[in-house]
Amino acid sequence: MPLRSVTAGIVVRRGRPADAEALARLRYEFRAALDPARERPLAFVERCATWMRQQLESECPWYCWIAEHADETVGTIWLALIEKLPNPVAERERHAYITNLYVRPAHRGGGAGTLLLRQALTECDARGVDAVLLWPTPRSRSLYQRLGFAPPTDLLERRLSPSPPHGVTPAPEPA
Ligand SMILES: CC(C)(COP(=O)(O)OP(=O)(O)OC[C@H]1O[C@@H](n2cnc3c(N)ncnc32)[C@H](O)[C@@H]1OP(=O)(O)O)[C@@H](O)C(=O)NCCC(=O)NCCS
Repeated sequence: MPLRSVTAGIVVRRGRPADAEALARLRYEFRAALDPARERPLAFVERCATWMRQQLESECPWYCWIAEHADETVGTIWLALIEKLPNPVAERERHAYITNLYVRPAHRGGGAGTLLLRQALTECDARGVDAVLLWPTPRSRSLYQRLGFAPPTDLLERRLSPSPPHGVTPAPEPA
């Protein structure tokens, strides 16, 4: 059964393969607003839409929701499930990674982002997820914190790329 919610004229539903091109355009809009693009828009949208279509067809490990307003795609969120090893103790056997939460500027501030995040978290709970990981931008931290996210106390991260993504505050160096 499709997941549908309505808030301030926004409808959130699962992304489908036919949404791939609109979703790829949103992806370009999101990332190119943060950092200078190194790929031309059309080439990127084609490459990204191909990837997204494949993910949306297989529905594993990636899941996506879109926010629509008057049939226009105005926001999105992506979720990947990460399998843990089988475990003989009482511990859930999946983690999840949330990324690409984006709402077009004209539709921000009305709860669409919160609605998308809630849908992804509902799915995580239904699928027995242990921890949900994500890298916020500084401005979006309050949204995530309102829905229960907090800085980890027991997680180590080792970056292999030369610099952190735009807008992500690097962890402080140990004293
Ligand atoms: C983050 C985002 C999806 C929120 O969408 P929204 O529909 O405005 O969200 P809501 O109305 O449910 O919640 C508002 C919250 O969004 C966040 N927010 C608002 N403007 C934002 C912006 N320009 N960039 C990032 N986050 C923002 C804040 O946490 C805000 O809460 P606050 O009022 O306590 O500060 C949207 O602002 C966006 O697409 N920003 C750019 C992309 C981005 O930074 N995504 C997060 C990646 S980790």
